[in-house]
Amino acid sequence: MEYLTLKNSDLKVSRLCMGGCPMGGHGWGDVSEINLENAVHTAIEHGVNFFDTADTYGLGKSEEVLGKAIKGNRDKVVIATKFGVRVEGGKTFYDNSPEWIEKAVKESMTRLGTDYIDLYQIHYRDNRTNINEVLYKLEDLKNKGYIRYYGLSNIHEEDKTELKSHIGKFVSFQDEYSLACRKNEKDLINLSKELELTPLTWGSLGQGILTGKYDSNVKFGSDDRRSRDIYVNFHGEKLKKNLEIVSVLREISQQTGKTIPSIALRFILDYISNSVVLAGIKNPNQLLSNLEALKWNLTKDQIEKLKLISEEKEGVQ
Ligand SMILES: NC(=O)c1ccc[n+]([C@@H]2O[C@H](COP(=O)([O-])OP(=O)(O)OC[C@H]3O[C@@H](n4cnc5c(N)ncnc54)[C@H](OP(=O)(O)O)[C@@H]3O)[C@@H](O)[C@H]2O)c1
Repeated sequence: MEYLTLKNSDLKVSRLCMGGCPMGGHGWGDVSEINLENAVHTAIEHGVNFFDTADTYGLGKSEEVLGKAIKGNRDKVVIATKFGVRVEGGKTFYDNSPEWIEKAVKESMTRLGTDYIDLYQIHYRDNRTNINEVLYKLEDLKNKGYIRYYGLSNIHEEDKTELKSHIGKFVSFQDEYSLACRKNEKDLINLSKELELTPLTWGSLGQGILTGKYDSNVKFGSDDRRSRDIYVNFHGEKLKKNLEIVSVLREISQQTGKTIPSIALRFILDYISNSVVLAGIKNPNQLLSNLEALKWNLTKDQIEKLKLISEEKEGVQ
């Protein structure tokens, strides 16, 4: 396993983090709780110690499933969860208010079956609550022992001003990044450096398109979010372009003997220094296949080829 320590913390985590979005059981087609639990056990057996979830995934279901799966292994794992997205009366909105944070953290701990959260992340800024108020509350949670560290997610260049005077407090930064989505590349690299944050990439497999198992006829049922046009990786020109990326991944897979998804993950690990890849995983086989991303490097030529084929052309986001 490859590990790193999150910036300004003593959290030592595997560079492959098991993403908990599918654990919510909502909008990812067929998911089985037993397969998810087994995947968590397989992950721990192989040295994966980092698990990401959010209170909003499956409206708490993901945290519950993760909590059940890690029972008896709490001391071996680093749990990252998120707050700040509320779903009420069929409406979704962002809330970073101290009152909501206090309620959310207690509910997350209960669902996770733990009395502390290692990494508590702001899922989205609400553009309302002053950052000082949020920090004051997060420090209060630290002092109470509810959380160990806190992190950011989905921030952009324009958020830098308010964060610049708080360097060293947040330890990590999640953003969407993969060979299928390089639009955040500059923010991910620059903000991580300037604000001293460890970059964590979400959607690292382009929601599954970079695994090599889908072709141009891909169709999802209405119980799968990827059936919707906003999941651009599976539609129109973007799908075509992604399949070209997959053909290069397939070539490299033949050269290296590694699985296609593991090469997509390795690209991030090699190209974004000191990063951690988050991959949504539904069963032990997917976990084992993604594990092949660790402990080797792509050659310069392979990286260049992948960079070139994944360059974002105008009009194809
Ligand atoms: N901060 C944020 O706002 C934010 C947003 C989104 C996600 N996240 C986090 O990032 C994690 C990763 O993102 P994601 O789950 O959205 O997308 P992802 O990791 O790009 O794709 C996950 C999907 O790919 C497929 N897959 C994974 N490994 C595979 C393998 N080896 N072989 C074949 N198929 C495989 C699975 O779906 P199928 O088998 O159905 O294809 C899986 O659900 C999430 O789980 C969550 O923890 C954070």
